[in-house]
Amino acid sequence: MEKPSPSDIRRAFEEAGQGHVFAHFEKLGEKEQAHFIAQLREIDLAELDRLIAEHAGEAHDATDFSDLQPAPYVRHPANGGDPDQWNSARKAGEAALRAGRVAAFVVAGGQGTRLGYDGPKGTFPVTPVLQKPLFQVFAEKILAARRRYGAPVPWFIMTSHANHAATEAFFEESDYFGLGAGSVHFFTQGRMPAVDFSGKIILEDKGRIAMSPDGHGGSLRALVRRGAVDTMRAAGVDILSYFQVDNPLVRVIDPAFIGFHVQSGSEMSSKMIPKAYPEEKVGHFCKRGDRLLVVEYSDLPAEMQAERTADGELRFLAGSIAIHILSVDFVHRVGSGSVDTRLPFHRAEKKIPTIDAAGHAVRPEKPNGIKFEMFVFDALPLAKNPIIIETLRSDDFSPVKNAEGLDSPATCRDDQLRQFARWAQTAGIDLTTDESGLPAFAFEVSPLFAEDAETFAANWKRPASPQTLTAGTCLGEADLPE
Ligand code: UTP
Repeated sequence: MEKPSPSDIRRAFEEAGQGHVFAHFEKLGEKEQAHFIAQLREIDLAELDRLIAEHAGEAHDATDFSDLQPAPYVRHPANGGDPDQWNSARKAGEAALRAGRVAAFVVAGGQGTRLGYDGPKGTFPVTPVLQKPLFQVFAEKILAARRRYGAPVPWFIMTSHANHAATEAFFEESDYFGLGAGSVHFFTQGRMPAVDFSGKIILEDKGRIAMSPDGHGGSLRALVRRGAVDTMRAAGVDILSYFQVDNPLVRVIDPAFIGFHVQSGSEMSSKMIPKAYPEEKVGHFCKRGDRLLVVEYSDLPAEMQAERTADGELRFLAGSIAIHILSVDFVHRVGSGSVDTRLPFHRAEKKIPTIDAAGHAVRPEKPNGIKFEMFVFDALPLAKNPIIIETLRSDDFSPVKNAEGLDSPATCRDDQLRQFARWAQTAGIDLTTDESGLPAFAFEVSPLFAEDAETFAANWKRPASPQTLTAGTCLGEADLPE
């Protein structure tokens, strides 16, 4: 298809009531004009028009919660689930892995504003002793899975316009953490323009629109548009293990989870943890009619979040931790975006740096506009046979979201240490911990040494391992038995 010319673009923006974006155009140099036009080409005006009609103006909440039910889920064996069912799922998952059907997929296009770290979040140093970056932790988990299942397990990484180059450079400098360049695939997600409350596109500068990543839900269409789905299909991959860049505890490749997905013929499967307390800020897995959906913590009325069943359990117990298995055909169907499979956009009111009529920079003190984002969990109601399985928080979830306090580097470090300590204690090592399970000193276990208590015990008992654990011990590949 031929690209629309600059004058066609100008006309289209004027006709859409967005002609003001050209207010400073004539003052721009030739290069800046070309950049600006390229940015405008990215904007789907028809889509934006629809969103503005739906979302501009004041926020309104018309959701009806009366027919909402808690979603069913498969209990973990530690909480009364059937061990035989889990074993059978695990075997099915292992078979899918050995057959080369599985790829790992991390969404790493977020802005990470709460953490306030300068650089792609995946480069954030996270492990307790060696300070390995998040990306390295995931890479080692993938490498461990490749070795265990003798399968290629390619890795797809979604970046944003803002962090794409830095992410690729980081992997190159780190020699792809031993994964091999050809097996790690990077692609950028889409962006959406921000608009003010009357629906006018916001200029960030004279020759630049205020654009931001289109949310983790944008991953589905980016996977299709950037050719990742084609790459997967060509490699015989039909199952995608989806996770977020901020959670080093995640079991990147979890055979039981994959097996449940395969056995139930599911198009999208999700992990849940029981919410720790009613106000915990996680989405809720719910059911409406025969559809599963996630209702955000900010949307579900507080009374409903506090409801309890006869045996005292929270009624809306199932918290979403953003770990999913997606079928590649499903990604293709939703990501290609026919009208009835398109993900909805959510509005977020933000302080968006802009310029005034004279072109001077303005840093707003209160929200001055709306950003549009899609959420991946909105694909759940579109999926056939979706299944939700329970996982243990301590084995799968400790995100780094904030600089301090809850879900911060400090809490994540402690959660990693608790996990290593549990594994060591299960293997019979005498280790002092406090009542929360935190060991008295820091040590570290690479995913290449152990992925869980079972592999830890197996590898520790063999002669190549060190005989004791002390402060600063780092168990890695070199400590594996001969
Ligand atoms: P968060 O919701 O934590 O957002 O993303 P964030 O942008 O990283 O952080 P804040 O809110 O600015 O502090 C959850 C996951 O979704 C990815 C993030 O990289 C993270 O892995 N994400 C989020 C994207 O890939 N693209 C997006 O547009 C938004």
